Amino acid sequence: MVRPATLKCGGKMVSPKNVPAWQATQPRGAKRAPTDPVFHVRGVTKVYRMGEVEVHALRGVDLDLYPGEFVVLLGPSGSGKSTLLNILGGLDVPTSGEVFYLDHSLTAASERELTRYRREHVGFVFQFYNLIPSLTALENTALVTEIAENPLNPEECLRLVGLEQRLNHFPSQLSGGEQQRIAIARAVAKRPEVLLCDEPTGALDVKTGVVVLEALERVNRELGTLTVVITHNAVMASMADRVIYFSDGRVHHEHRNEQRLPANQLNW
Ligand SMILES: Nc1ncnc2c1ncn2[C@@H]1O[C@H](COP(=O)(O)OP(=O)(O)OP(=O)(O)O)[C@@H](O)[C@H]1O
Ligand SMILES: [Mg+2]
Repeated sequence: MVRPATLKCGGKMVSPKNVPAWQATQPRGAKRAPTDPVFHVRGVTKVYRMGEVEVHALRGVDLDLYPGEFVVLLGPSGSGKSTLLNILGGLDVPTSGEVFYLDHSLTAASERELTRYRREHVGFVFQFYNLIPSLTALENTALVTEIAENPLNPEECLRLVGLEQRLNHFPSQLSGGEQQRIAIARAVAKRPEVLLCDEPTGALDVKTGVVVLEALERVNRELGTLTVVITHNAVMASMADRVIYFSDGRVHHEHRNEQRLPANQLNW
């Protein structure tokens, strides 16, 4: 797919420089080919400068991620996985290169536009759950729906992750795996197009990890959410549509599975 150098705005072709990235786009719901990527990443580098020291976290990443895919990102520690995920999620910006979310340039977006992008379109799941201890499972999940445009029913989200029996329990009354499933319910409650997960099972034992992966699998299948999961566990590769291997700040290679293995059949 060829990206235009200029973006269409009100019928006129205008330079992206003259128009806020957020306005220089097709209206939401405009017709898009199902094969158009959700993320289009080209030549992305990220250099962290700390005094005299430069850390090259990303050294030129090219990547397209498609609607409804379940993608696993694998690679050694320090290879740039989290840096890329943070850039996709609008939490960080690259040093050079371009990132498009649908027709929106994330690299040309202002801080305010990125905040709106994160709030409306991206669900995050991290290794630690960051739930609010004084709120119940239902309240933790419902919180984001108050500021979302088109949220899901919070109870429905908790059903999706198998916690419909635990709506009124506080985080301290739930196991780590259950808390992580609330974090997933909370992430999907705003009905994001994209779910970005950084080592979601990193703090869990195998059995609990499988239940969390089943929850992600169900979200991906039932809501069609593009799901990107970073892990150190190569076993998880079998449950993905596509596995992307990172090495030294680059995509080293990728692999497409003909068939996805259900999470509960992974061979740990
Ligand atoms: N905020 C930062 N400031 C300075 N250096 C950073 C920062 N964030 C990441 N880095 C460096 O960038 C490189 C890539 O880090 P990143 O966290 O993306 O790796 P990773 O593949 O997610 O590793 P891990 O599997 O250990 O989580 C590392 O060398 C890291 O030290
Ligand atoms: Mg990381």
